[in-house]
Amino acid sequence: MTRKLFVTTALPYANANFHIGHIMEYTQADIWVRFQRMRGQQVHFVCADDAHGAPIMIAAEKAGITPQAFVANIAAGRKAYLDGFHIGFDNWHSTDGAENHELSKDVYRALRKSELIEVKTIEQFFDPQKAMFLPDRFIKGECPKCGAKDQYGDSCEVCGAVYTPTELKNPFSVLTGATPVMKSSEHYFFKLSDPRCVAFLEEWTQTPGRLQGEVLNKIKEWFSKDEDGKGGLGDWDISRDAPYFGIEIPDAPGKYFYVWLDAPIGYLASLKNYFGKIGVDYEAFMADPAVEQIHFIGKDITYFHTLFWPAMLHFSGRKTPNHVFVHGFLTVNGGEKMSKSRGTGLDPLKYLQLGMNAEWLRYYLAAKLNSKVEDVDFNPDDFVARVNSDLVGKYINIASRAAGFLAKRFGGQLSADVGVEGQALLDALRGQADAIAELYEEREFGKALREIMLLADKVNEYVDQNKPWELAKKEGADQVLQDVCTTCIEAFRLLTIYLKPVLPALAARVEAFLQVAPMNFADAQTALGAHKIGAYEHLMQRVDPKLLEALFEPPKPAEAPKPVPGGEELAPEIKIDDFTKVDLRIARIVKAEHVEGSDKLLRLTLDVGEGRLRNVFSGIKGSYQPEQLEGKLTVMVANLAPRKMKFGISEGMVLAASHADEKAHPGVFVLEPFPGAQPGMRVR
Ligand code: 2FM
Ligand code: ZN
Repeated sequence: MTRKLFVTTALPYANANFHIGHIMEYTQADIWVRFQRMRGQQVHFVCADDAHGAPIMIAAEKAGITPQAFVANIAAGRKAYLDGFHIGFDNWHSTDGAENHELSKDVYRALRKSELIEVKTIEQFFDPQKAMFLPDRFIKGECPKCGAKDQYGDSCEVCGAVYTPTELKNPFSVLTGATPVMKSSEHYFFKLSDPRCVAFLEEWTQTPGRLQGEVLNKIKEWFSKDEDGKGGLGDWDISRDAPYFGIEIPDAPGKYFYVWLDAPIGYLASLKNYFGKIGVDYEAFMADPAVEQIHFIGKDITYFHTLFWPAMLHFSGRKTPNHVFVHGFLTVNGGEKMSKSRGTGLDPLKYLQLGMNAEWLRYYLAAKLNSKVEDVDFNPDDFVARVNSDLVGKYINIASRAAGFLAKRFGGQLSADVGVEGQALLDALRGQADAIAELYEEREFGKALREIMLLADKVNEYVDQNKPWELAKKEGADQVLQDVCTTCIEAFRLLTIYLKPVLPALAARVEAFLQVAPMNFADAQTALGAHKIGAYEHLMQRVDPKLLEALFEPPKPAEAPKPVPGGEELAPEIKIDDFTKVDLRIARIVKAEHVEGSDKLLRLTLDVGEGRLRNVFSGIKGSYQPEQLEGKLTVMVANLAPRKMKFGISEGMVLAASHADEKAHPGVFVLEPFPGAQPGMRVR
């Protein structure tokens, strides 16, 4: 039976770009999803921006734009990371989308009908200087459970406890530093302490196979009461007072859902939004008991996903998650805390910009990942070793050792039958398919890759024993040479199938080289037979360790000013009137495309807020891929007379920086305004 899987990763807050921890989680889930698809399962894999909450509201206010515009800017930057690391979500949505507003209100109304919502007047921290109730994240103090200092108002990063900000010891406002004062206000609570909730969650969490052992242990702590009957599951405050960026609570003017109420509902909203696009009935899908709902999350948000979330779903009459797969954090260099200024951080975008292969990282992360809630450490030496010795040295080399002989001597033709020894090797490789699949299924990716590399060792031993390079020189050994090389290529194909969830782009190139259709797991049980393969092109480079040095190199302190900036003298002095003749405007790059027949130009479609779009040719092809530019803001000369060029009319000019001596200092750098600028604004 085909499984129907609904898979999500945690929704990232829309207040910053992705860090390497996000990429690790998405890679973990993406590998699992690709594996399931290769087994013929139906998977819907979605994510979204977590748009709401006070921190985003406050950041937008600082930037002088609406929270909606703020979130849209962050969202525009997501694609470069997701495409860059081959993370194949079916849909990316936002918790501020219409579906989420509607679903969140539906869930709330259902909980209210189940009598699980209670209104209580509570005393809450209020910043007297800023005149607003302080969001949890804007109050710090000491953890009421373990005493750790400098903890946020909603949960402790040291012991994992979740609490209300008023429980903090020695609190202060992060916004102003003021000591907050108590002020009363009506709040809405989800009655998690209701015996129905407790009974449900005890059963739900204990269902065998649903949660990992370490997660169950943590949950046991959260359930337990001390001798005085204190502790255990507390009611959950789900409302926040205006001003707040969020979803208004039905029948409660001025009250909004706390971001953590509508965030997980965003999983459903993204699926619903996706189904709207592809024409699938969302209600029918979610009502299907065969659907498995699976969330990949980090360990810091376990409480929300294993207690609040299933209870919300269950008591609003919905399907609950079949699994919540929790992973640990990513540390760099033996657990050093990430910090950009100290240069220990691993910036995923810098990784890509340095031209490092995304699949090196996917392979490395997979090699370190298992099904436990353990932290994963990124170690540069280990990274180089695993990629160069295992991935390239053991696996890629199999193809490069055999493909040349097949092409030169046999026109790419494989033998129909590889003989007893070759067959035995291939049978051994095929025999591991189920064991490897089981490891992928269990998210034991590190173990799966170890198994696959053991198989690669076997293939390399076979090559060393049969020495195709000697066979190639021997009279009358043509048939044996063709059989040995065929065995290698067939073995390489099997290994590629096993690695494909981790290395999807590489697998696609291998499929093109082998001239086969996209491969599934079942294809490991078939043979190519007398098939003709294409020309071999080198499939993957080794990592140059210098790249890792560059990756972790701290940003350079500013260099002393040079006598001739940018390689050219300043232009003669002008008056302000000369400057104002040039009308510079903020433009959004709606589209960027290659121009056929030009190796310098990109065609840009720009929105300058005039209700029409402009066509501009820009000589930046050597420095940018079109997809790096799309969605970005830049600055253009908007009153330049249109110019007829070989490829069409150019209606303006995009500003970009370059050195006078472009040979010695290559690169053209397009200007990008600080966040907050809007298309059409004049630059003066
Ligand atoms: O911790 C976070 O980054 C949250 N934005 C995760 C939300 S996951 C889900 F509930 F939306
Ligand atoms: Zn604590």
